[in-house]
Amino acid sequence: MLILNGVNLGRLGVREPTIYGSESYPDLATRWAAVGLTLGLRVDVRQTDAEDQLVRWLHEAADEQLPVVLNPGAWSHYSIAIRDAAAQLRSDLVEVHLSNIHAREEFRHHSVISAVAAGVICGLGPLGYELALQFIAARSVDL
Ligand code: DQA
Repeated sequence: MLILNGVNLGRLGVREPTIYGSESYPDLATRWAAVGLTLGLRVDVRQTDAEDQLVRWLHEAADEQLPVVLNPGAWSHYSIAIRDAAAQLRSDLVEVHLSNIHAREEFRHHSVISAVAAGVICGLGPLGYELALQFIAARSVDL
């Protein structure tokens, strides 16, 4: 399965730490993969600042029927291209946001991705990813 992180998420640890925390992206990526293993999931954690790359990864997940945990970053709020790619997934999609997007600026309140996700976790920091992995593990006993 894939954990896909979009634009600016590779900057975690240095980027607005009061909002996103001070753990670095590489440390978080390592932990998510390790947590996945404890749940019996082979997790590939990826990040990109290029929208077309994220679209291609979603196509890959669709073709290989992989579950996806997706934090699209700012693309959540306006990228119909990411939504259309996410809509092609044939396994579970969980949308995750570190911050509570509903408690922030108005332009963050709406995600164009949410309607094609099985569920959304936001505001729980990095733990939100681990909870999403738990959901995927519960749903895909034989991955
Ligand atoms: C985010 C929330 C988005 O509004 C923002 O643009 C991000 C990160 C989050 O994880 O809280 O880049 O997706």
